[in-house]
Amino acid sequence: MPRNPETVKTLVTGGAGFIGARCAALALESGHEVTVLDDLSTGLRSRFDALEAAGARVVLGDVRDANARASALEGVDAVIHLAAQGSVPRSMEDPEATMDVNVHATDRLLEDMEERGLYRLVLASSAAVYGDVDGLPHTEDLVGARQSPYADSKWANEQAVLRRRQQGWEAIALRFFNVYGPGQRSEGPNTGVIPIFVKKMCAKEAPTLFGGGSQTRDFVHVDDVARLLVRLASDAWSHPPRAVYNVGTGKQTSLLELVQTLAAALRARGLKGDHLIPLMGPARSGDLDHSMADLAAITADLGWRPTVSLDDGLGELIDARLGHGV
Ligand SMILES: NC(=O)c1ccc[n+]([C@@H]2O[C@H](COP(=O)([O-])OP(=O)(O)OC[C@H]3O[C@@H](n4cnc5c(N)ncnc54)[C@H](O)[C@@H]3O)[C@@H](O)[C@H]2O)c1
Repeated sequence: MPRNPETVKTLVTGGAGFIGARCAALALESGHEVTVLDDLSTGLRSRFDALEAAGARVVLGDVRDANARASALEGVDAVIHLAAQGSVPRSMEDPEATMDVNVHATDRLLEDMEERGLYRLVLASSAAVYGDVDGLPHTEDLVGARQSPYADSKWANEQAVLRRRQQGWEAIALRFFNVYGPGQRSEGPNTGVIPIFVKKMCAKEAPTLFGGGSQTRDFVHVDDVARLLVRLASDAWSHPPRAVYNVGTGKQTSLLELVQTLAAALRARGLKGDHLIPLMGPARSGDLDHSMADLAAITADLGWRPTVSLDDGLGELIDARLGHGV
C-alpha cells in the first residue's frame, strides 16, 4: 500500500541507543509520528530527552514486558526493531538473557503486532550471523558456523522475519556490518573500535593494535543506516525478493589502515606526535577475521548505496571531539 510519510506512525525500539536515536531523529525530521521504546540498559536518558523535546513519544520500558509493548504499539503502523542485547561477550557470559531479550521478546512483539494488524517490520540483524564463513565479500546466502549466542539470536530473528513474510507481512531484516558515527559511545558493552581509537588519538594516547592490525571490518556510517531504516518503514512496499539484506559499504578496512587514516586526519589538523603511531600487541584468539559486505542484492533490489565515505565520517568525528565545529 502506498504511504504518505507524513502520516507514518513509527515505533523505534531501542530508540535511546546509538542507531535508534539517529533513526528516530531522522524519522521525526521526515515527518513521521515517532514513538521510542527503550529500557535505557545501554541507551542514554539524554537521547530520550532530546527525542521527546523534538516531538517523539517516549516509552521507558522493557521490550520483554507486555505492558510496555502494548503502550509502545499504541497508534503505530510500522516498527523498526533495534532493541537488543548487542554485545557478543555478554552473550557468551549469559546466553539465556540474550535469548530472552533478542529472541523471545522479539517473538512476543511480532505476536502483538499481528494482534493489532501491524505488518510492517524492519529488524536489525548483524553480520555476526556469517560466523566463520570463508571468502569475501559476504553474500547473504552463504553463512558459516555461528560463533556466539548473539549471532544465534540474530539468526533466529531472521527466521522469524522469513516466516512472517510467508504470511504476507512487509517485513525485512538488515544485516548491519560495523556501524559507526556521531553518538556512538567510546565505553560500555556496545562500543566499537572507531570511537575508542578516535577518543584515544585525540587525547594524544597511542592506540594498540593486536596481531598487526590486519583484521578487517566493513565500517558503515550511521546516517546511511538510519536513512535506509526510515525509508523502509515508510515507503510503498517494493516487495523485495529477499528477507535479509547486507548493510555495509562493500569495502574492507584493516585496523592498521583505520589508525593510519585517523593519524593522517589528525596531522592535517595540525596534531603531531608519537601517539599517532600505534602500539603493537600480540595477536588475540578470534581477532584475525575479515569482514566485507556484498552489496549486489541491496543495490539491485532496494537501490540503496552508502553515501558517507570513511574519510568524511572519521573527519567529522575528529572535528567534533577536537571542537573544530561540526
Ligand atoms: N552498532 C553496530 O555496529 C551493530 C552491528 C550489527 C547489529 N547491530 C544491531 O543494531 C541494533 C542497535 O544497536 P546499537 O549499536 O544502536 O546498540 P545500542 O546498545 O546503542 O542500542 C540498543 C538499544 O536497545 C535498548 N535495549 C536493550 N535491551 C532492551 C530491552 N530489553 N527493552 C528495551 N530496550 C532495550 C538499549 O537500552 C539501547 O538503547 C541492535 O539490535 C544491534 O544488535 C548493531
